[in-house]
Amino acid sequence: MITPEHHKLFAVIGNPVRHSLSPVMMGAAFAAMRIPALYTAFGMNNLVEDLAVLHKAGFSGLSVTIPFKEEARRLAVEIDDTAEQIGAVNTLRRAGSGWEGCNTDWVGALRALSRIVDPGGKRALVLGAGGAARAVVFGLRKAGAGVVLANRTVARGQALADRFGCQFLPLGELESGADFDIVVQCTSVGLDAKTSAPLVSDSFFRRGMTVMDIVYRPSRTPFTLAAERAGCTIVSGLEMLLYQGVAQLEWWLGLPVAEIPAVAAMRVALTKAVENE
Ligand code: ATR
Repeated sequence: MITPEHHKLFAVIGNPVRHSLSPVMMGAAFAAMRIPALYTAFGMNNLVEDLAVLHKAGFSGLSVTIPFKEEARRLAVEIDDTAEQIGAVNTLRRAGSGWEGCNTDWVGALRALSRIVDPGGKRALVLGAGGAARAVVFGLRKAGAGVVLANRTVARGQALADRFGCQFLPLGELESGADFDIVVQCTSVGLDAKTSAPLVSDSFFRRGMTVMDIVYRPSRTPFTLAAERAGCTIVSGLEMLLYQGVAQLEWWLGLPVAEIPAVAAMRVALTKAVENE
């Protein structure tokens, strides 16, 4: 094995990974904590071979992004219970001759929301049934929220709702959001603000709701703009990205990342990166 002499090595792996904000965010964190570490990005094609190369090169930890979260779960020598239940690994840490996996996406969603509202005993609506929705539903259920899941494709949505003990509603049957304290938009609608039709009508939103859209590019989506006009409290998708990253650092380094200054530095770095796009 090659041993890194001066710096701990970390990376985000995915395909494509060029636009990932993780290097900017993690670079700011390591600088603020004065930890000598390098965090870079690798576009990968063959996860088995490429993970072996990074292991040999002495990498300590990896963030895993699209499309490798399910495959990383299968390849990890050990995974924690939450990654098992969510069915995806977004974080790897060096363990013996292989990689150990966990999932911090659900932690990110929960910490981001919990700064505004305690989900315990609240009524939450999750829109979507993909990987992101799975992590968000898991987090909200774990925190004790009652969750209703709405999705365009009934079979997919119903299956996810059954798995986590939620109620299911076809997306088309969502009329008023009056029943919900928390709404999390987990579909890919909003990624392309110009072409997507709105998921819900403007009258869906009610003052007092806490609304998060996991889409953070653009930083304000049509969904959150409509919610803001109605007087809802908005949680940016960047906050979920931020706190899943904080949880990764804690798992890799084995120490709590203090709110100040590392988290503040990460937030500033993310906000600047999105503003400059
Ligand atoms: P990820 O794993 O990143 O969350 P995904 O698995 O591709 O992404 O899931 C995307 C989600 O966005 C799904 O819930 C999808 O709904 P379907 O299950 O019906 O496909 C939802 N989605 C994408 N485009 C949509 C649209 N135009 N209207 C409503 N839902 C949409």
